[in-house]
Amino acid sequence: MSTETTPGQGILSETKRAERDELIELLTRAYWMEIETVMSYIANSINPDGVRAQEIIESLTEDIQEELAHANQFGQRIKELYGTVPGSMEFTPEQSYLQPPDHQTDIVHVIKGVIEAETGAIEHYNRIIDYTDEIDPVTNDMVIAILRDEEGHRRLFEGFLREYEVEGLA
Ligand SMILES: [Fe+2]
Ligand SMILES: [Fe+2]
Repeated sequence: MSTETTPGQGILSETKRAERDELIELLTRAYWMEIETVMSYIANSINPDGVRAQEIIESLTEDIQEELAHANQFGQRIKELYGTVPGSMEFTPEQSYLQPPDHQTDIVHVIKGVIEAETGAIEHYNRIIDYTDEIDPVTNDMVIAILRDEEGHRRLFEGFLREYEVEGLA
C-alpha cells in the first residue's frame, strides 16, 4: 500500500511495520486458542453424564458463545492491522488436557482441563497487553476486556474444583 494512504502515526504507520507483524503473530495465536477452546468446550458440554455434570454443561454452553465472540474479535483486529485471518489448514491443536475422559462422569478431568485452558489464555493475553501497552492502545483495550472474561471463567471453574476438593474427590 502507498505511504500516502497510511497513517503517519500509530500502529498502522509504515514505521511500525515490524511491531505490527509481531503483533499479528500474537493475535493469530490468540485466535487459534479461542477456536480450539470452542471445539473443546462444545465436546465437553455434550459428553459429561450425571447429576453433577449439569452445572458444568450449563457453564460451558454459555462460555462457548463468549469464546466464539473472542475469536471473532481477534480475527477482526488481525484484519484491521493489515493481516489475514488464517485458514483451517494452518491449525495445530494443543489442548491435549481437554480431550474426552475415559469415563463421562469424570467431571474433575473436565474442570481441570478448563482451568488449564483459561490459564493459558490469561498468560498469553497478559503478554499481548504488555506488548501493546505503548504501541497499540486499541488492541490493548480490546485484550484487557477479553482478559477479564477469561479471569471470570477461570474463577468460576476454580470454585467448582474447590467443591470437589472439599469432598476429597479431586
Ligand atoms: Fe476466550
Ligand atoms: Fe475463557
